Amino acid sequence: MPGVSLVGSGSACLSVPLTNDGLSQRVDTSDEWIATRTGIRQRHIAAPTDSLTSLATEAARNALEMAQVGVDEVDLILLATSTPDDLFGSACRVQAALGATRAVAFDLTAACSGFVFALVTAAQYIRTGVFKTVVVIGGDVLSRWTDWSDRTTCVLFGDGAGAVVLRAAERDRLLGFELCSDGSLNHSLNLAYQPESAPLVDGITVQKGSFAPITMNGREVYKFAVNRVPEVIEKALFRANLTTADIDWLVLHQANQRILDAVAARLGVPSERVVSNMARHGNTSAASIPIALDEAVRAGKVQPGDVIATAGFGAGLTWGAAIIEWG
Ligand code: UT7
Repeated sequence: MPGVSLVGSGSACLSVPLTNDGLSQRVDTSDEWIATRTGIRQRHIAAPTDSLTSLATEAARNALEMAQVGVDEVDLILLATSTPDDLFGSACRVQAALGATRAVAFDLTAACSGFVFALVTAAQYIRTGVFKTVVVIGGDVLSRWTDWSDRTTCVLFGDGAGAVVLRAAERDRLLGFELCSDGSLNHSLNLAYQPESAPLVDGITVQKGSFAPITMNGREVYKFAVNRVPEVIEKALFRANLTTADIDWLVLHQANQRILDAVAARLGVPSERVVSNMARHGNTSAASIPIALDEAVRAGKVQPGDVIATAGFGAGLTWGAAIIEWG
């Protein structure tokens, strides 16, 4: 059975930051409250001229460049997003923008767990020998769906995209994984369609609704994350035949610095081994793990052979972990 290796990473980050002080002009909050409760100091917001497609394409292009893989070699583009430019999917637009004409492309939606779910999905195509080269992208423009009058959510989120290139290899570097869902907790965090009735013809009424902005029970999601994330990482480590002592880098979904600290403490991972960029980017949903990973790779922290424990968690509710060896 062919194995999977991760051979490149890339990201696309927006240049103009929205600081906590900037947000305080809009809602009753402060840099002090946001920084102490979340670790976030700024986030980046997509301008009207940006799109999910443009961010995802830039991230994929940078990952392919690092991997030294040509667009004509790409078999599959998997785009994890909850904020597509088109509800029918945005991956094909990315395929066209990249010029990856041989590749099949589709979207995968699992909110902030999307990147981990897509990584594991992509790996199955490689392991079965169906595809040799896959680009996995996590991208979100949550600012489109943020209620800018709700200080309990609008201070958390930012926009961006990150990507990795996976290739078939002799030795499998996806060492273990575990994916979970619990739809009974869907009410804790959602971006739900709200149908309204519109009469069409005699006797037939159709739905004519819209999406409500993001709603979240922060305390519930916080408790869920600090309990479930260490558990799912331990299960993935077990499948990899490793222990927490083998983790070189903990790359978690960047939701809240307090969650990162609590998960690391629970697993006994020292803070210098925890990758965090939340102060600069906030929570970028499906993009947060690949952006954090790409920054750590480009900073020379993550080296070939390092064991990375990564975990995503969020709406669905969904959560999942993957243990990977870089390079
Ligand atoms: O990516 C998806 C995953 N999402 C998450 O992981 C989010 C998980 N949850 C969290 O990170 C935290 O629950 C939050 C950061 C969202 C909130 O922190 P908290 O420590 O749980 O605060 P809280 O909701 O318990 O609110 C404490 C107080 C409240 O005031 P009272 O009722 O005590 O008077 C809030 O109204 O802080 C108030 N508050 C704010 N004050 C200033 C809430 N938001 C703000 C704000 N600025 N932005």
